[in-house]
Amino acid sequence: ATGAHVPALVIGTGYGGSVAALRLAQAGVDVHMIEMGMAWDTPGPDGKIFCNTLEPDHRSYWLRTRTKAPLNYFLGFPIDRNISRYTGILDAEDFGGITVYQGRGVGGGSLVNGGMAVTPRRENFGAVLPSVNADEMYDIYYPRANAELGVGTVDPAWFDSAACYQYARVGRKHAQRSGFPFVFVPDVYDWDYMEREAAGTVTKSALAGEILYGNNHGKKSLQQTYLARARATGKVAISPLHKVTSVAPAAGGGYTVVIDQINTSGDTTATKTVTADRVFFAAGSVGTSKLLVKLKATGALPNLNDEVGKGWGDNGNVMCGRANHLWDPTGKLQSAIPCSGIDNWAAGGAFAEVAPLPTGIETYASFYLSITKNPNRARFSWNAATGKVDLDWQTSWKQPSIDMAKTIFDKINAKEGTIYRTDLFGVYKIWGDHLTYHPLGGAVLNKATDGYGRLTGHPGLYVIDGSLIPGNTSVNPFVTITALAERNIEKIIATDL
Ligand code: FDA
Repeated sequence: ATGAHVPALVIGTGYGGSVAALRLAQAGVDVHMIEMGMAWDTPGPDGKIFCNTLEPDHRSYWLRTRTKAPLNYFLGFPIDRNISRYTGILDAEDFGGITVYQGRGVGGGSLVNGGMAVTPRRENFGAVLPSVNADEMYDIYYPRANAELGVGTVDPAWFDSAACYQYARVGRKHAQRSGFPFVFVPDVYDWDYMEREAAGTVTKSALAGEILYGNNHGKKSLQQTYLARARATGKVAISPLHKVTSVAPAAGGGYTVVIDQINTSGDTTATKTVTADRVFFAAGSVGTSKLLVKLKATGALPNLNDEVGKGWGDNGNVMCGRANHLWDPTGKLQSAIPCSGIDNWAAGGAFAEVAPLPTGIETYASFYLSITKNPNRARFSWNAATGKVDLDWQTSWKQPSIDMAKTIFDKINAKEGTIYRTDLFGVYKIWGDHLTYHPLGGAVLNKATDGYGRLTGHPGLYVIDGSLIPGNTSVNPFVTITALAERNIEKIIATDL
């Protein structure tokens, strides 16, 4: 309520925010988490909390009247459909040159993502977080993050026989015939549950096309892991459908935080002002960057340094499909949870996840999301005329990613005598180069903050999410975001409280 005072306020309930909340609470600190999205704890009229990718309804998108599916064409036809405007779970946020997909709700990106839980290869870590001690990360914080997140790997024997992973076995065969290392990718999905889905003994989720708009079963999102344990301390409160709009030094010390309460149409219904001794920015790379850039430019937090808003990257995301021969069907039943990838990082700068196309029909397509070593970095800046934050990413900056992905797929196509699909992202368009699932950076560690996420110039303000990471993690990012948050909050609790 307005006028309240909280020791620690956390903006956002994704990975960084959930780690901060749990560890602060365990250290005896009362925590209040503010989340602009919904709680996602109540079934809709169909008895389900989340809707399906095959039948997206109002629950699918954040304040849109038409879906904006990442893969938006099939056989050359657009597949998006009209929906009613609602505070749905997936935000397709448009900037000039890129659409950035993000989760909205209690649990952040963990609600919508594929759960691929990948620790970077150690030899690549120096480029991921140059100022962080790798020994500590690999000895303590990566293992801690993996354990808390509940990371596991598909049983290889089951994988070899499961109909729902035929697409991944085709991916393996093609990768290996071209000499590329094929790797199993760990995931937070409950693999035992998935085996029971395949056996027909439990309600299907991954095997019913659930992904992107939430999983009703099987996936260990933050709601089941960090946030459950944070709540169990009795010291963490969460306010969903509340959006932080301002943070500024308070007269008597601490910070004044202004929060809009919104309804499910996105309209502000109340504005509240609280004070907090400490504020943790965990609104995600885009959310935290937008807030900090605005607060610096408008004078609310004048002492932030000039690194704020810089160093943003897309983790080199680019998508493509390949058209297989008729003797290489990928299966009409596909698990929506990916479990494997092709690692050509060292030689070609690309790590390609063998991704599902869970359409329910045989497509003869192999589909891939590649993470590449794209060197381009963009900057957020305040646009006083529109009162919004812009991002200067250009669509053409994806070309290095396309070139790196081609080091894998040109070779596979040549070996297999196959071609790229041209019908998945438009009419005669091969590359899904208009989007990212993995925004990173904007408040980079040791630049906008000190070596542990303390914002320069304003004691008591911290960044603890993906915005700390300078644009690329070489693999899917959430394990690194979680492990870095564990490292930073441990130091902050030991020295600042
Ligand atoms: P995160 O984005 O998780 O959380 C930020 C939260 O803050 C959100 O809930 C948001 O609503 C809230 N917020 C923002 N602004 C606010 C404000 N002003 N006030 C209040 N609340 C605010 N990664 C991976 O490792 N493996 C994978 O398989 C995938 N797959 C994948 C698929 C899809 C479709 C997406 C969109 C993303 C992925 N990712 C992924 C990426 C992963 O989900 C992402 O990197 C993390 O969720 C980022 O964690 P953060 O803690 O930085 O923020």
